[in-house]
Amino acid sequence: MESTNIVWHKMNIDRNRREKLLNQKGALIWFTGLSGSGKSTVASCLESKLYEIGKLTYLLDGDNVRYGLNSNLGFTKEDRSENIRRIGEVCKLFVDAGLITIASFVSPFKEDRNRIRDLMGKDFIEVYVDCPIEVCEKRDPKGIYKKARKGEIKNFTGIDSPYEKPDKPEIIVSTHLNSVEECADEIIKYLSEEGK
Ligand code: ADX
Repeated sequence: MESTNIVWHKMNIDRNRREKLLNQKGALIWFTGLSGSGKSTVASCLESKLYEIGKLTYLLDGDNVRYGLNSNLGFTKEDRSENIRRIGEVCKLFVDAGLITIASFVSPFKEDRNRIRDLMGKDFIEVYVDCPIEVCEKRDPKGIYKKARKGEIKNFTGIDSPYEKPDKPEIIVSTHLNSVEECADEIIKYLSEEGK
């Protein structure tokens, strides 16, 4: 059911004032890529680097969010869309709070990611974590590809569910060619060049 009879309440302290207080600008850095591509590892390294230069961040990560907020969602196309939609709304609040928000989700469908791009406007920075599936499968840190190959997990991204690469991500990092540190540095460089 949709909400009705609701009126947006304007608060005294707005994003601008919070950003002044924090001495930073809110932004959403959205990582997308296959499971095992290195999204969480690069995101976590990036977060440490931002912390070191005094930036307030918050990292939202696939598996963790699925323990709580989205524990009622599975991996059908519909559930993944709802997963990403809710996360987008949470990210919007965090960015409004002035935080450099980092999201790390497989987010395999273009349509779902683009909805967030529309929601966030210029605050959205899409990072495509590029890594061939063979490499992801070899890494298989959670043993999850093995299970998917055995048919124990259905709708697995890259196996029996598609991954749609972004057309024009702001940043592409290649974890099979560069170290985690180098990938995180590329993002830092982009942020500083863009004055974020
Ligand atoms: S998303 O597609 O809805 O964006 P999300 O990033 O939240 O996915 O969760 C992905 C994580 O859930 C993966 O890292 C993996 O550990 C686990 N997982 C479990 N089942 C699947 C599946 N069918 N496809 C992809 N990842 C899965």
